Amino acid sequence: MSRILFIVAGLLLPTLGWSAGGGHTFPNDKVEIDWSDKAAMQRGARTFVNYCLSCHSAAYSRFNRVGEDLGIPDEMVLDNLIFTTDVNGDKTKVGELMKTTMTVEYAEQAFGTAPPDLSLIARSRGVDWLYNYLRGFYVDDTRVGLGVNNGVFQNVGMPHVLAELQGLQQPKYKTVQDSHGNESEVIVGFEIIKPGSMTKSEYDNTIHDLVAFLDYLAEPYKQTRKNVGTGVIIFLFVFLILAYLLKKEYWKDVH
Ligand code: HEC
Repeated sequence: MSRILFIVAGLLLPTLGWSAGGGHTFPNDKVEIDWSDKAAMQRGARTFVNYCLSCHSAAYSRFNRVGEDLGIPDEMVLDNLIFTTDVNGDKTKVGELMKTTMTVEYAEQAFGTAPPDLSLIARSRGVDWLYNYLRGFYVDDTRVGLGVNNGVFQNVGMPHVLAELQGLQQPKYKTVQDSHGNESEVIVGFEIIKPGSMTKSEYDNTIHDLVAFLDYLAEPYKQTRKNVGTGVIIFLFVFLILAYLLKKEYWKDVH
């Protein structure tokens, strides 16, 4: 028994340490994604192509496939989601992959590291992390060139590209003591110091929709898979009843 307690305590300890001395892990809100809410994903797709595709690719997806899945006709995809041109200067075709036009060499020079492809980011980071990351940029004058830092991704190389919407915020700190009596400052919240074009709740909704889109990108089959799963269970259940009736019918004369 004592051994089991010991193991349980061992498993819990790291989580305690994390919450006490986690330092820069703010904000830490949860986000609910409704996979059947295509309207949210459409709005997210629009934000994505307007604000993210200039640096990041989503090169596992094609524009028209996204349109088809989210219920956007090809002409609307062309008018509303495609703002890039190909090497000949012609508008990117609707069947093309969602690639950024920025070259890796340029990006590395400009940002120190190339912006990663975001096709699978919702799977590798999780939707909560993304929701907090995109709401977690704050003013930090020590960051030369960028002027911002991020509560969940310290010293990130990405600028606050949504600052015009969110505005600029500064962190509120609290001093905490760890078990050895060492003091450190942790971020416990933010306050807007320069408003953007959106209110806080409008911005939160925009990020919710953007994360919903990124979640769809990472797993385009999630919705279909859920529907197929339910169908299979219903089929098996009906089949079970039929098989039972059939068995009764076959055995009825044997006794
Ligand atoms: C001006 C270029 C630029 C734009 C525009 C941009 N990003 Fe980034 N982003 C970067 C760079 C550079 C990094 C890599 C940062 C690092 O590793 O330090 C990055 C990193 C990220 C990461 C973290 C990836 C990881 O390592 O897990 C996410 C998530 C992300 N960006 C999402 C977005 C979203 C969503 C948008 C649109 C709202 C966006 N970015 C727009 C340059 C950009």
